[in-house]
Amino acid sequence: MKNKFNKLSKKKNKSKIVCLTAYSKNIAQIIDSHCDIVLVGDSLGSVLYNYKTTRAVTLNTMIEHSKSVRMGIKKSLMVVDMPHNTYRNSSEALKNAKRIISKTQCDAIKLEGGKKIYHIIKKLIKNKIQVMGHLGILPQSAKKFKVKGKKISERKNILKDSKILEELGVFSIVLECVESSLAREITKTIKIPTIGIGASINCDGQVLVTDDLIGLNPINVRFVKKYANITKQINSAIIKFKKDVTRKKFPGKKHSY
Ligand code: KIV
Repeated sequence: MKNKFNKLSKKKNKSKIVCLTAYSKNIAQIIDSHCDIVLVGDSLGSVLYNYKTTRAVTLNTMIEHSKSVRMGIKKSLMVVDMPHNTYRNSSEALKNAKRIISKTQCDAIKLEGGKKIYHIIKKLIKNKIQVMGHLGILPQSAKKFKVKGKKISERKNILKDSKILEELGVFSIVLECVESSLAREITKTIKIPTIGIGASINCDGQVLVTDDLIGLNPINVRFVKKYANITKQINSAIIKFKKDVTRKKFPGKKHSY
């Protein structure tokens, strides 16, 4: 397993890191061979369950989806988001992180925040848990979803947080909706890889929600590029199936016993 982390850190300044989300075995199976990291993101709260925020996602929901994803992954590093209210203090965080890892066999967990969760991350890393950081917009606590790093004080704090996370020993940091010159500064300053989402080309890698990029989740935000329209393809398949059923063409002899 250590190998996977070494491989990832060696990519910094050499080749870009590819990270995508998966919430199920079937998607994980498709994306695994193309990714360095597969993330079971708590974005599943809004993407699958229609929750207004990711705050309603529970530990059990993350664990069940992660168990499914685990079955589809052979080579990628698998990271699972710790949901809101599961790491309010270091002992709660350690108990829940251990539970996620033992139930899902993931390689690492991801937590949102910097200095504010210093002691929590310290405890996890002391207990040999691999941690991915997350700075910029923090969906579990954000009130406004606005680009981060336009104000000088905000820039300073995010840069400082990235250094704190690096010193603590996180293996990588997600930068969400961080202004592009700040993303460049962070990526140049720290030695661990930065993975951007809405944080420009200046990161060491990119992450997107798979359902967004394949056009399965009807989202329209600037940082999502739609590479496919899977909804359209599903629709046309279902229309054909319906036609066959109503015209009594399915099932024919080939699909009957
Ligand atoms: O929850 C999630 O999917 C995430 C990514 C968007 C980075 O945290």
